Amino acid sequence: MKKRRRIYEGKAKILYEGPEPGTLVQFFKDDATAYNKKMHEIMDGKGVLNNRISEHIFKQMNRIGIPNHFIKRLNMREQLIKEVEIIPVEVVVRNIAAGTICDRLGLTEGEVLPRSIIEFFYKKDELNDPLVSEEHVTAFGWASPQEIDDMMALAIRVNDFLSGLFLGIGVQLVDFKLEFGRHVEDDMVRIIVADEISPDSCRLWDINTREKMDKDRFRKSLGGMIEAYREIATRLGLMQEMEPTRGSGPVLVASNDGKNVGKQESGDKENGDKGK
Ligand code: TMP
Repeated sequence: MKKRRRIYEGKAKILYEGPEPGTLVQFFKDDATAYNKKMHEIMDGKGVLNNRISEHIFKQMNRIGIPNHFIKRLNMREQLIKEVEIIPVEVVVRNIAAGTICDRLGLTEGEVLPRSIIEFFYKKDELNDPLVSEEHVTAFGWASPQEIDDMMALAIRVNDFLSGLFLGIGVQLVDFKLEFGRHVEDDMVRIIVADEISPDSCRLWDINTREKMDKDRFRKSLGGMIEAYREIATRLGLMQEMEPTRGSGPVLVASNDGKNVGKQESGDKENGDKGK
């Protein structure tokens, strides 16, 4: 088999050359890192869960017209994506105070913010991804004023969509990070959502218990990270398709309206974990 060309390797993902020009293959690793790699551990199965959760979210966004890079999932760890020029700015949307905004502004974790707040961080590991203003983004040419407007408008749409999606499964969307890329379509450059959306890039709290169901379990050494990610996938109705054959007999299958409608033998519908 022809060896694929590796285009880029990040902390949690690898990008390979895709089968067609203008496409890439995004591979989800099991590496969990925090505080710019000061913490680093391999979390068995994280890549598979994030691939599946991110696929679900990006597919839904495509359905409702939020432009993004996702084309299709290829196997347990890989998805085919559109090649974009990544804008070197992370866009964070916050609904509830948590993480760095608490330290910066002296807020208490869990405070509901007066409104959703958008922040920009310059993607630069050597500098620990510093918070920057729109002025920095435009002055240094990382994105134009129009691109900032596009990113902010898309970020708000994603926030509305994701807040509803998670509320429907009893989860509060505290905050999340987006990355954007420039994509050439019919000789026009369009800003689209790139990277991933998963419990690695969101803060997700159980609505009743307020238990953390995201990467803060790792950052704060709380344990149970994979279990929490699996719980998110389960509530989103994704585990049925993910689980390998267990030979444990019939399992209940949910219909679209969430009611159990019948029984089916469990089995792996995936292509297998080719990319591992
Ligand atoms: P923060 O509170 O650490 O600034 O993070 C805000 C949100 O952005 C949180 O959901 C985690 C996410 N995030 C990433 O996904 N990657 C990153 O590199 C950083 C700094 C934050």
